[in-house]
Amino acid sequence: MAQSPNLFIAQRFRRLRRTPALRELVTETRLSAADFIWPLFVTDVAGADVEISSMPGVSRRTVEGAVRAAEEAARLNIPAVCLFPYTDPALKTPACAEAWNPDNLTNRAIRAIKAAVPEVAVMTDVALDPYNSNGHDGLVRDGVILNDETVEALVRMALVQADCGADILGPSDMMDGRIGAMRDALERAGHKDVAILSYAAKYASAFYGPFRDAVGASGALKGDKKTYQMNPANRAEALRLVARDLDEGADMVMVKPGMPYLDICREVKDAFNVPTFAYQVSGEYAMLKGAILNGWVKDDVVLESLLAFKRAGCDGILTYFAPEAARRLGR
Ligand code: PBG
Repeated sequence: MAQSPNLFIAQRFRRLRRTPALRELVTETRLSAADFIWPLFVTDVAGADVEISSMPGVSRRTVEGAVRAAEEAARLNIPAVCLFPYTDPALKTPACAEAWNPDNLTNRAIRAIKAAVPEVAVMTDVALDPYNSNGHDGLVRDGVILNDETVEALVRMALVQADCGADILGPSDMMDGRIGAMRDALERAGHKDVAILSYAAKYASAFYGPFRDAVGASGALKGDKKTYQMNPANRAEALRLVARDLDEGADMVMVKPGMPYLDICREVKDAFNVPTFAYQVSGEYAMLKGAILNGWVKDDVVLESLLAFKRAGCDGILTYFAPEAARRLGR
């Protein structure tokens, strides 16, 4: 049993990878169902409550179906759902008035979910695109997306959502000044405890394609969103946006898309140490699901991809995989 002195290795990292128990003991990052916000697409258009072809496994739901999903979230220990409406095209106008109709889809769904499963937090989308005949997140005049006029509309929309019982408002529009305007209006209206999760660093991304199918905005959208959503090349700007939104009264911030922007998640968490979320967006879901369904990768990529968000510093993830991932984690 001659041993060469060359074989004395002080740092054998494999020692702690030898058994499941040892690996478990030194695990640095954990994923749980409590990390998820589950996005739901709601519709009352007859026949539209079907699977979205670019998002296999994800369907639009009726308000009643959204309530059932929220009940499932409660059973799976998923703390929050986020509502996105597929609006009847006949209700979409350039003025977007349906956005602050107290009886619009989202607002009916908020009330129904809070009545049935009050323990599940309801997050909303504050943006005009599902109600806009031109598909943009802002009001448009002569081809220009109007900032301040849009902020006024978003404030009206946010107040009605708060009245209906929304727990978390999610402004996803990227207009300047909307967080401050919303926070101010919420305080004045007595909604002191409504949280704002700002889509602070939202990039102009091609990964949103399937979502626009899901909410029926793809056909309507003329041009792109590059005058309001961020340039994917920028990181310093993301940090300035997060600082700005926190100053204006955001409680939590988001980076979006997710996986291609994990460097931004890490920088935001390190710089501000505030509740930081990322959105694993529709295109990311479609890529992973499509490859799984083709047998090109194993479905283990689902939990691996979500764990990566936690490792990058995120406190939680908006993900269409929420129920599937929660079930896997429970096994
Ligand atoms: C629009 C909005 C988008 C998403 C959430 N809110 C798309 C866009 O900005 O065009 C994308 C979510 C996803 O792709 O899953 N207000």
